[in-house]
Amino acid sequence: MIVEVIVSRFEGRGPRILDLCTGSGCIAWSLALELPGAELVGVDISDDALKIASTQTFSSPSDAFLAPSFVKEDILSDDFPSVFPPASFDVIVSNPPYIMESQKKDMDRNVLDFEPGLALFVPDSDPMVFYRAIARAAARLLRPGGLGAVEINEDLGRETLSVFTDAGFTNVSLHSDFLGKPRLILFSEE
Ligand SMILES: C[S@@+](CC[C@H](N)C(=O)[O-])C[C@H]1O[C@@H](n2cnc3c(N)ncnc32)[C@H](O)[C@@H]1O
Repeated sequence: MIVEVIVSRFEGRGPRILDLCTGSGCIAWSLALELPGAELVGVDISDDALKIASTQTFSSPSDAFLAPSFVKEDILSDDFPSVFPPASFDVIVSNPPYIMESQKKDMDRNVLDFEPGLALFVPDSDPMVFYRAIARAAARLLRPGGLGAVEINEDLGRETLSVFTDAGFTNVSLHSDFLGKPRLILFSEE
């Protein structure tokens, strides 16, 4: 959904896009392939994830195609947003960890057995920790008119919306996936 929304809004343009918690880089690579000329930067804390992200290879669909670059950063660190110049991205996307520890018991083994806990879980005491960091980074790093898109925990739609409105974004909306579950928030300044 994140990729579809960003591609439909930026088709024919070459936006600068930041993918926070990029993991294998699947969102970053998909956007780079679908939006030739787009400049993608993926950020993750995990060396293993960054190794996978930076060694993906695809045959170039277009002369304008630019391979994403990947950097190691902890997006929860206070200093994180100052790694990039202010107002340096048109789009910020993220599918961060958002599953509460208490939801682990409801999860399928095909996720639990293969995904590292670092990629999945947040404490029940602070499930919004990554969204606050994303909102703070976006407030500094998005250009005027820029757009943010985040995947969310379907049980925490209202709380996650509030994080972005509290951070000063005036245009914040919740969207359902093809199963009718609220899974995507878009945010921007009017
Ligand atoms: C749910 S996975 C998302 C992977 C990818 N974006 C996707 O959609 O498949 C979350 C990612 O967040 C990364 N992560 C966890 N804590 C982080 C932190 N403090 N700073 C940056 N990345 C972090 C994990 O290493 C993992 O790759």
